[in-house]
Amino acid sequence: MHKRATTGEFGKLEIRESRHSDAAGIEQLYVDAFPDEDLLPLVRGLLDLGQSVISLVGIRENVIVGHISFTFCHVEGGKEKGALLAPLAVTPTLHKQGIGSALVQAGFKHLENSKTGYVFVLGDPAYYSRFGFKAEDNVATPYPLPTEWRGAWQSIRLCGAEVLHEGRLSVPEPWRHIALWTS
Ligand SMILES: CC(C)(COP(=O)(O)OP(=O)(O)OC[C@H]1O[C@@H](n2cnc3c(N)ncnc32)[C@H](O)[C@@H]1OP(=O)(O)O)[C@@H](O)C(=O)NCCC(=O)NCCS
Repeated sequence: MHKRATTGEFGKLEIRESRHSDAAGIEQLYVDAFPDEDLLPLVRGLLDLGQSVISLVGIRENVIVGHISFTFCHVEGGKEKGALLAPLAVTPTLHKQGIGSALVQAGFKHLENSKTGYVFVLGDPAYYSRFGFKAEDNVATPYPLPTEWRGAWQSIRLCGAEVLHEGRLSVPEPWRHIALWTS
């Protein structure tokens, strides 16, 4: 199991793959970070996917303070291996301490090790552009996005990736709910 630890002015952050025993802590994190949305069905569904998901937790002083999930997926008709980044959450009182960025970067390392060429995300470009994400026009989301969200659909090509096939992103069941893409 891969582990990373970074030390800064806020103390040591350990990042590791999540375990079954982390489930309650991860769920609480999403309740705290998304007070107006119920992401628990999605989070539980992703945690149950096993090898189809990279699920990382950030831990500080034995408490889960961040979580990120990458779901393996592919473009219909294409061969290139991709991953969908989401959800990502950090304990609200600990924002702006680099925890979110550390989780994203740790995830990229796992994905490169597993020969994943592309990462897709539906999120705020003002945040995700710092990692190199750019607007994705060739690969469509599993469900059509509201017009005002179009710029939020982004991707990044990891080193060694082949050129992406055009088409629609095929995702496993927890992501096949239109509300996740339209509201
Ligand atoms: C988004 C989130 C994960 C970032 O975590 P974090 O640990 O605070 O992130 P980092 O410390 O690595 O980066 C913080 C920087 O990102 C910026 N940032 C955070 N969210 C942002 C957003 N939506 N748009 C633009 N910038 C954003 C902060 O202002 C800060 O900027 P600075 O570096 O100039 O100070 C965290 O704010 C969070 O959990 N938010 C609620 C859940 C959420 O929105 N998740 C993302 C779903 S796509």
